Amino acid sequence: EGNKKESRGALVVLEGLDRSGKSSQCSRLVSFLEGRGISAELWRFPDRTTNVGQMISAYLTNTSQLDDHTIHLLFSANRWEKRSMMETKLKSGTTLIVDRYSYSGVAFSSAKGLDIEWCKAPEIGLLAPDVVVYLDISPEKAAERGGYGGERYEKLEFQKKVADYYKVLHDVSWKVVDACLPMEDVEKQLQEIVLDCVTESGKGKLLSTLWS
Ligand code: TYD
Ligand code: MG
Repeated sequence: EGNKKESRGALVVLEGLDRSGKSSQCSRLVSFLEGRGISAELWRFPDRTTNVGQMISAYLTNTSQLDDHTIHLLFSANRWEKRSMMETKLKSGTTLIVDRYSYSGVAFSSAKGLDIEWCKAPEIGLLAPDVVVYLDISPEKAAERGGYGGERYEKLEFQKKVADYYKVLHDVSWKVVDACLPMEDVEKQLQEIVLDCVTESGKGKLLSTLWS
């Protein structure tokens, strides 16, 4: 109708346990999209570059101690401080490949014993992803991969609890990819999912907000 608008970018979120391969796959996806002439950026949460992000980073590296509720709200604030930029980018036609989002926020804090509804509340009103891709790996397999950096949550027993809460959060709209397949196969599946998503989002599908 009326004046033609440039089509918006897609909001793509990758979730999964530590060592599931999100970070490598996210950067591969961005290169893939750019290679196809699709404007794309890699984002990650926590974004450790902001003031809030530095507080989070200090917590994760055990340099500082914070109450569980407090750190939960900081993770959420770290998404809120990026919200308007996120909306601007998407509306200008850039697709965002986001390494972790609100689902990490809820799964990790709930795994500590915080009430799940309390954990979800501060995420209400953030932009809802067009697709959530879950890189599926058992906590045991992820731990076998090694490379846990010694940060606060990188322990098998805790990752098992996180996996349970990801299952609670999971709904039919999520795309689950077996993270134990060869890297190239994971990559291929992700490319298909994301290309479909970019096409759909470009057709005028409106942005919505969490939790939807
Ligand atoms: P991670 O993606 O592992 O960052 P990096 O690749 O820089 O190590 O994220 C750091 C940790 O923070 C990870 O264990 C998950 C956790 N986390 C939360 O507890 N809440 C959140 O909202 C987010 C985004 C991450
Ligand atoms: Mg990590």
